[in-house]
Amino acid sequence: MSDKKARISLAGNQDSIELPVLNGSIGPDVIDVRSLVSHGVFTYDPGFMSTASTESSITYIDGDEGMLLHRGYPIDQLADHSDYLETCYLLLHGELPNPTEKKSFVAEITRHTMVDAQIAQLLNGFQRNAHPMAVLISLTGALAALYHEGLDVDDPVHRRLAAIRLIAKMPTLAAMIYKHSIGQPIMGPVNALNYSENFLHMMFGVPAEGPSVSPVLAKAMDVIFLLHADHEQNASTSTVRLAGSTGANPYACIASGIAALWGPAHGGANEAVLKMLNEIGDESRIEEFIARAKDKDDPFRLMGFGHRVYKNFDPRSKVMRKICDEVLADLGVENDPLFRIARRLEKIALEDQYFIDRKLYPNVDFYSGIILKAIGIPMGMFTVVFALGRTPGWISHWNEMLSGAYKIGRPRQLYRGAPRRDYPLF
Ligand code: CMC
Repeated sequence: MSDKKARISLAGNQDSIELPVLNGSIGPDVIDVRSLVSHGVFTYDPGFMSTASTESSITYIDGDEGMLLHRGYPIDQLADHSDYLETCYLLLHGELPNPTEKKSFVAEITRHTMVDAQIAQLLNGFQRNAHPMAVLISLTGALAALYHEGLDVDDPVHRRLAAIRLIAKMPTLAAMIYKHSIGQPIMGPVNALNYSENFLHMMFGVPAEGPSVSPVLAKAMDVIFLLHADHEQNASTSTVRLAGSTGANPYACIASGIAALWGPAHGGANEAVLKMLNEIGDESRIEEFIARAKDKDDPFRLMGFGHRVYKNFDPRSKVMRKICDEVLADLGVENDPLFRIARRLEKIALEDQYFIDRKLYPNVDFYSGIILKAIGIPMGMFTVVFALGRTPGWISHWNEMLSGAYKIGRPRQLYRGAPRRDYPLF
């Protein structure tokens, strides 16, 4: 807490209310309004534009500076020098692992990649064309059924096991969902492959052939997972925290986070980007779509542009853009019409005054959609890949909350409905 105080006075009230001001290790001052309720007033902040819902030591974002730090480390340095599983360890434990800790963490994850055979039976109950996100929510919820007996969320050892299981099993679940959708046999994990290679193997491998994964694509996949690993108190993470604040089963909490991620304003945007590029269809129609995005009477928005927090280039987008170039070059598809539209759109939007004035830069979903499409991952699976990558962030926030003192999340409201009235007796 700082020595600074904030004072508010309410009209008609002689006395002002003094509120403490809290300091983070970086970032703006935070006025502690918790005592306001004892004065009979609440604050009103739909969308949490001015409200910190929690204290956290995991991730820091400065949207104006385009800065994203995990446990203090800049995301671009992690993308260049770390890998996804090491970043998972960092998010969960607060520090980078030493070589022995890393080896044992990777071994632990590798040993938990298989999923119970009954999950496959549940999967078979879904139609082949079911949306993969709907199926992922269900299968993750089913893990809650499998791992509920004896689970004590107040025990750090139980919480850690839940974290390991979730990070380990998510690629297996994701790939199972895809294989079911195309009617191919489910491919089990192969321990000799690393995390990202294994994901691509389970997605695209077939039993008749041995594993064969392109190192460029596996590296790209690993960086995509890493760039999605956490993003502080976004809608899905806040959902996980809110569900977790009731003491709910962690697998159920993550299922609720996956549901929140699904929407096009959040994780569903990478799928929406591809749909939009397909709808544009030809470079000659780009101007028409830019005009629609600027028209206030048209609800259309350029998918993959803009961000609630970043009012500067999202640091993840810079890394993603580079990976995008590498993948398109490796696959020799730079001249694919869809990717040409994406490049032209990016250029025009970056030069257009409407987008410059509103600080609407391409976000991480713009490039990830293009890369995933190039790798051969179908559109409906894009948000599943995002969910897979975000799992360590969700579980780290859940674990952080349960490690300290926490209260059940219970927002207040500004009621504007009918006042008390008597039931009409006719
Ligand atoms: N295309 C056209 N205009 C836009 C766009 C867009 N993509 N995004 C924002 N604007 C305009 C908006 O109309 C408003 O204009 P004005 O000030 O003239 O009324 C101004 O920019 C500010 O927009 P806002 O809606 O107040 O901004 P927000 O912070 O509430 O919304 C957003 C952020 C990401 C929901 C929004 O930019 C958007 O809908 N983008 C497209 C969807 C998308 O790509 N989402 C992925 C977000 S990143 C992934 C993640 O972290 O989950």
